[in-house]
Amino acid sequence: MKILSIESSCDDTGITFFEAKGGLQTADFKVLSDNLSSQTIHNQYGGVYPMLAKREHKINLPILLEKGLHESKLFRQGLKSAPVDLICVTSGPGLEMCLWEGILFAQELAKKWDVPIQPVNHMEGHVLSTFGKNKGKFKVTKLKTPILTLLVSGGHTQLVLTKKWMQYEIIGESMDDAVGEAFDKVARMLGLPYPGGPHISKLAEAERAAGKRAPFILPRPMLHTKNFDFSFSGLKTSVLYLIQKIEKENGELTEQDKASIAFEFENAAIECLVYKTAKAIEKYKIKTLVVAGGVAANKHLRNEMKKVTQENKQKVKLLFPTMELARDNSVMIGIAGYLNYIKNKKKVPKPASIRAEGRMRLAK
Ligand code: KG4
Ligand code: ZN
Repeated sequence: MKILSIESSCDDTGITFFEAKGGLQTADFKVLSDNLSSQTIHNQYGGVYPMLAKREHKINLPILLEKGLHESKLFRQGLKSAPVDLICVTSGPGLEMCLWEGILFAQELAKKWDVPIQPVNHMEGHVLSTFGKNKGKFKVTKLKTPILTLLVSGGHTQLVLTKKWMQYEIIGESMDDAVGEAFDKVARMLGLPYPGGPHISKLAEAERAAGKRAPFILPRPMLHTKNFDFSFSGLKTSVLYLIQKIEKENGELTEQDKASIAFEFENAAIECLVYKTAKAIEKYKIKTLVVAGGVAANKHLRNEMKKVTQENKQKVKLLFPTMELARDNSVMIGIAGYLNYIKNKKKVPKPASIRAEGRMRLAK
């Protein structure tokens, strides 16, 4: 069947056309066209402005749709009959006014083409993003259970346990800021552009490669608590106090100060993620570890997770999304949408009943 998938939960607008077939653990995908528009307009503000993001989605969606229809060669048919059999759209979590733009766009097309809509949980998209390859063909394969997914993005830090395929139990999460949010806020304190994760990571990598050590230590919050929860707000505040202390003693931060702070912050944040993930692998006798979400692009996190799984006697298979699919995209929405559509035996809600749910959860 042919599928259109739409992503607009935050500051990326994505439109993908697929050909999909097969079952829950054997599905085959062929990407016919894939277009993503990232909103650079927020860079200057140090964060995403929902009203601006909504406006950009409204402008981008029809442009990307037309481009996608042409590239996938579905356009000619599109004029006469429905070019797809199903529309998948992110309905949460995310910024509600942005989610609505995607949903309203999907509803309009569904009406015009008389096709069903499968609403998609954005976080399930991230969980399933490791199957995707940005362009071309790919397959969903059977993963050994139990599966543990570390979801790390701008809005989420969660450890998700899957005992049965496509069923989720959140066993730990951040009590306050998401890890990506902490990267973004620390970057802002250092005068780096938004989104800050890649900039912090670049500075930290250079320090690591040079074999340097930071001249101070930042806390690793909740590292030794018995649960699988995280906290990043205190770490962020410690960075703020450290900056104030350096500025008071030496004046404005030097480039070396900034690099040292980025390095030690990255070490602290990633250590918290890795330590708790390793503990959960032991406790739940995990066979497959998935690390997904925007922060999964972080090189240090990838390397540390490789070490954890290689050193573990349980022979844990480690999966990451490609760099393109670690960040928000509509390929993962199509994968999650198609799999849910066949899981629910093609039963979907009435298009008009689909609502944006900013705080939608993957599980209780
Ligand atoms: O999944 P995503 O694109 O959007 C959300 O659903 O939130 O994640 C975006 C987050 C941002 O906070 C960004 O700074 C962070 O992922 N990020 C990184 C890196 N690349 C992106 N954080 C650390 N290191 C990176 N290399
Ligand atoms: Zn995301």
